[in-house]
Amino acid sequence: MPAEFFAEISDQKTPPTYNYFNGSQWVPSSSGKTTQVASPIDGSVIGFLQVVTTAEIDAVMDKAAASQPAWEATPLHQRVKIMHLAADWVRHFEEYLTTLLVNEVGKTADDAKSEIKRTADLMDYFADEAQSIHGEEIDSDNFPGYDKGRIALIERVAHGVVVAIAPFNYPVNLAGSKIAPALLMGNNVVFKPPTQGGISGVHLAQIFRKAGVPEGVISCVTGKGEEIGDYLVGHPKAGMIAFTGSSDTGVAIAGKAPMKPLLFECGGNNPAVVLPDADMSLAAREIVKGAFSYAGQRCTAIKYVLGTRETLETLETLVVKMLAELVKMGDPRSPETKMVGPVISAEVAEHIEKFINESVAAGAKVAVGGKRNGAYLEPTVLTSVRPEMPVVAQEIFGPVASFIAVADYTEAIRIVNASRFGLQASVFTKDEGTGLVFAKQLNVGSVQINGSPQRGPDHFPFLGVKHSGIGVQGVRYSLEAMSRLRPIVINKPQ
Ligand code: G3P
Repeated sequence: MPAEFFAEISDQKTPPTYNYFNGSQWVPSSSGKTTQVASPIDGSVIGFLQVVTTAEIDAVMDKAAASQPAWEATPLHQRVKIMHLAADWVRHFEEYLTTLLVNEVGKTADDAKSEIKRTADLMDYFADEAQSIHGEEIDSDNFPGYDKGRIALIERVAHGVVVAIAPFNYPVNLAGSKIAPALLMGNNVVFKPPTQGGISGVHLAQIFRKAGVPEGVISCVTGKGEEIGDYLVGHPKAGMIAFTGSSDTGVAIAGKAPMKPLLFECGGNNPAVVLPDADMSLAAREIVKGAFSYAGQRCTAIKYVLGTRETLETLETLVVKMLAELVKMGDPRSPETKMVGPVISAEVAEHIEKFINESVAAGAKVAVGGKRNGAYLEPTVLTSVRPEMPVVAQEIFGPVASFIAVADYTEAIRIVNASRFGLQASVFTKDEGTGLVFAKQLNVGSVQINGSPQRGPDHFPFLGVKHSGIGVQGVRYSLEAMSRLRPIVINKPQ
């Protein structure tokens, strides 16, 4: 069944070459160029993606812009029906998509399966929630000097064509979290999957198509971000950019898409602040989970831990012990492996290793880990770290947790707030009141009290400040972000 359902997205060779979706058909690019996708597990080539040309992007954008008004005019209940069907297809292919994800991005089977399930649930939730999004009417006489002579009818309308750019770490879920709200609010979508994760991405695009998204309403263009990304985001027919990826790329995109609405989730480098009264085993367990699940390749991963010297000493012993119990690096296809498979490529692993080595040369100590074998990087705990060291100052997408000792908790707040990142932070304390007071002083998107940073549950608002993001996601918030207000004012002749 998967073979038939997905037949047209690739040639039938081994490894396959995948087509791009021009809004009507899956076709090879006229560029004649493809980009290779190799598994981070063992470097084996698992497929090739088209590298589309700028002329092909123009054609896709033209088609998307031309067909968008009709899609927005389609009754919402029909768009909702298509979304539920797409969610059902995602569920139907859970096993197939899980295997694809494991091979393509090196997630453990459990993590991959949960990504697929979560995507289907999210699409259903989006479809349900979209039905309660509505406009409003405001009278004029609330404002001093006005009588009842005007009424504003405020509608919610689409932005037009949304360019949706997904990252490698959740290539299905973070594509679905953009495509679903965009389509439900009446936008057309030009989807750019990541290169690594692009094979999973093209499968998702086919699911939307098969669920009944009409011609031109969704398209899927592939190619290296650095080759087609700028052209896409700066395109005059792009009405909005929704992006998840690194902070550096986010900053670059923002500069290339002037005056366009942006919805970005970028790097986090999230801190965990452990107060002396915390439940230390809870904090240690959450730190291990937060720092090492999916090899630390989550925007919401914990990257550094702040506490007084005594607190960190207690914590270090517990974290190292729990790491040995809960984490096992290895081939993500093996059930033995827990949390840490390879990072996305050997080059990325090398880069992280360089940051570790530079930090060690600057005085950090390796409590555990620190070694690399190809794309596999040992889960690493560093102590005696300072905030200016590369393992904390740079965006580091790997299994590394850094302990930074502070003289007092005012210093901890200063360190968190001085960071260029501001996605989430965790505070551990037995006193929730203290946690609350502390949380209010942190300049980050969200604060978790007694839990590790995380996006879910997906209807909670999710946002980053500073270089960690623009706009708010979360089911209702994403639907709102994927639309704008259109007030129409009726002036009653006096
Ligand atoms: O890294 C992307 C971000 O959305 C992480 O989500 O669910 O791992 O907290 P989650």
